[in-house]
Amino acid sequence: MRLVPSDAASSPVPPRPGTAPRSSRVVVLVSGGGSNLAALLAAHDDPAYGARVVGVVSDRPDAGGLRVAQEAGVATAVVAPGDFPDRAAWDAGLAQAVRVFDPALVVSAGFMRIVGSAFLASFAGRTLNTHPALLPAFPGAHAVRDALAHGVKVTGCTVHVVDAGVDTGPIVAQRAVEVLPGDDEATLHERIKEVERALLVDVVGRAAREGLVVRGRDVTFGRR
Ligand code: GRF
Repeated sequence: MRLVPSDAASSPVPPRPGTAPRSSRVVVLVSGGGSNLAALLAAHDDPAYGARVVGVVSDRPDAGGLRVAQEAGVATAVVAPGDFPDRAAWDAGLAQAVRVFDPALVVSAGFMRIVGSAFLASFAGRTLNTHPALLPAFPGAHAVRDALAHGVKVTGCTVHVVDAGVDTGPIVAQRAVEVLPGDDEATLHERIKEVERALLVDVVGRAAREGLVVRGRDVTFGRR
C-alpha cells in the first residue's frame, strides 16, 4: 500500500486524518478521471453542504482522480492489487487505507473493483457506489455499452449501497437519461455523467446531513 499526502506525491508519509467533524468525513474511491470526485470537491467547501472529502484512495497510481484530489489539497493513497499477494490481502489493505481517514461515509466513484469481506466488515451500510445505468439493468463495467446494445430508449444512473455483489446493493436514488438517435457509448456516457454528478453530490450531502438508514432493500435518509 502506498499512502500519499497531497503535498508530496512521492512521499510514503501517511496522511493526517484531519479535523472535519466525524459525520461529515467522506473517503472517495477512484480508478479513473475523477469527474464525480471533482463535483464532490466543488461542493464540499460550503459548510452547509455537510460532507467533506478527507481522503481519496485509488487502485491505480495513474488514476486522474488522484491528481484532482492533490490539486484540491486532499490526501491520497494508492492500494494497487499488484502490491499484494492475493485479492483478500488487497481488500484488507484497501480497508486499512480507508480506515486511516476515519470516514463516516465511503463513496465509490468510478472505482472499477469489487470490494471484499474485509472491506465490508468495516464499511458495509456506509459505502455508496455510483453506476451509469438504471440498476438492476446493466450492472458491470460496460453499462453504457450494454444499454446501447440492448436498444433501450431511456437509461440513467444509480447511486446504491455497496454489498458483496456486482452493482447489486440497495438503491438510494436514480435519475433517467434519454438515449438520443445517433448516440454512441461516449456521447451517451457523457450525458449520463452530467446527471450522475449532480445526483451523487445531492445524495452524499443528504447522507452526511441527515444520515442513511438501510433496512433490507429499502434505503431512506434519516437516523434510526
Ligand atoms: C462514472 O460514470 C461511473 O459511474 C463509472 O465510471 C464513471 C467514472 O467517471 N463507473 P469519473 O472518473 O468520475 O469521471
